[in-house]
Amino acid sequence: MGSPGLEGQDSEQMNVESLPRYHFRPPSNWMNDPNGLIQWKGTYHLFYQYNPNGPLWGTIHWGHARSRDLVHWEHLPVALAPTPGSPDEDGCFSGCTVDRDGVPVVIYTGVRGRDQLPCLAFGDDGLLRFRKHPSNPVIPSPPDDPSILMFRDHTVWHEGRAWYQAIGSGFRDRGGAALLYRSPDLERWEYLGPLCVGDSGTTEPVWTGLGWECPDFFQLGDRHALVVSAWDGAPLYPVYMTGEYRGHIFYPEVVHRLDFGCLYAPQSFRDERGRRVMFGWLREERSEDAQRRAGWSGAMSLPRVIESGPYGGLRAAPAPEVEALRRGSYSLREVPIPPSEPLVLPEGDSFELEAEIEPGEAGEVGLALRRSPAGEEETLITYSRSSALLSVDTRRSSLDPEAGGALRRERLELGPGEPLSLRAFVDRSVVELFADARACCAFRAYPSRSDSLGVRLFARGAPVLARRVSVWEMRP
Ligand code: FRU
Repeated sequence: MGSPGLEGQDSEQMNVESLPRYHFRPPSNWMNDPNGLIQWKGTYHLFYQYNPNGPLWGTIHWGHARSRDLVHWEHLPVALAPTPGSPDEDGCFSGCTVDRDGVPVVIYTGVRGRDQLPCLAFGDDGLLRFRKHPSNPVIPSPPDDPSILMFRDHTVWHEGRAWYQAIGSGFRDRGGAALLYRSPDLERWEYLGPLCVGDSGTTEPVWTGLGWECPDFFQLGDRHALVVSAWDGAPLYPVYMTGEYRGHIFYPEVVHRLDFGCLYAPQSFRDERGRRVMFGWLREERSEDAQRRAGWSGAMSLPRVIESGPYGGLRAAPAPEVEALRRGSYSLREVPIPPSEPLVLPEGDSFELEAEIEPGEAGEVGLALRRSPAGEEETLITYSRSSALLSVDTRRSSLDPEAGGALRRERLELGPGEPLSLRAFVDRSVVELFADARACCAFRAYPSRSDSLGVRLFARGAPVLARRVSVWEMRP
């Protein structure tokens, strides 16, 4: 096939372009968290935190888009806007949508001054127009406890004959928390106590921060999962916990980072096929000035299907619908890669790559992306079986000083003889990496050179065997 990403494009303009082509985002301006995700009468609805007035965070509304297939999205008018003189006059923060007897009901955080309180809005059947509840906020204040650090973001479910919601919070000197409420009708709420509290004193196995934003609580098989966005005054990373939900308390048994890159504030929903589908906000990793100049900020992850994995873990893989974007494939089988000779793959900045590699015991296997011909710019993904570490290195992704760079690592243990399976989705400045569906890393890279399009697999220290490599160009 031709080089992925080059067909029919103005290559001059495209090559240094950072705007993703097949990841969702609004036509311009700022976007953060996915909100209110629901499949309603067959149609998927994606709402998101949106600033219609500029490319940086502020004046937060709910943007809206819909799709029949999770991949092709139609932009719709803003769904929720702050109402002057009301409890959301300074912002409509994150929340979710539930179906109350055939009416879509949004539970979101209304912001007025320092107050951040739960509010309701009722949608019409197309989820196009929303009527705010006249007696918002539906919970007039956080629980009366001076050690509560924050109170926002909602996960709502129906259980027995009641509605329950957990609100993102944190206790000073203790850690993040999800506070549990119950209601007969979504309108009158009673505080039951914390659903779960983190431990800010320990970093083992994962530090879960001072507060939890955007809790997302759901059942998966015979276990429950609580996903939170760990926060320490600024966003850290999303964490999942799986464990037992008993007597209205959640007891985590496994704690893990959901993604070790820039993904934050993920939210999931159960679709009509019974799948647990998740989206997350992909933060920018370049300066504010660069975002201002670009006129936009933030992208949405691909839809990820969440399933339970071994040892209480979660597995995340892109929804199979994403494969509809593939075109023109390139593939190889059983190619040995000696340390002296990288395997050069078709160039591009908008493609999916799938590889199964036998990493060997001795050295490291690596994937270089967005590489300039002489390697002045390149983004490196490496795996070492002996240290069981997967690394993502963007420190040399860009010569532009406004682009951030980081070295990130996550443990990834492979079973004896188990190959490394990688899937990488490259979409201009967005990369989403799935290693064996167990370790996920979404991150950003902003090459400055129009020829930073090289892709190669390489070995360090000892040869590796690429059992299977496929590359597809991705349609916008
Ligand atoms: C997470 C978050 C939420 C809040 C929203 C505001 O990114 O800070 O806690 O509801 O974004 O835009």
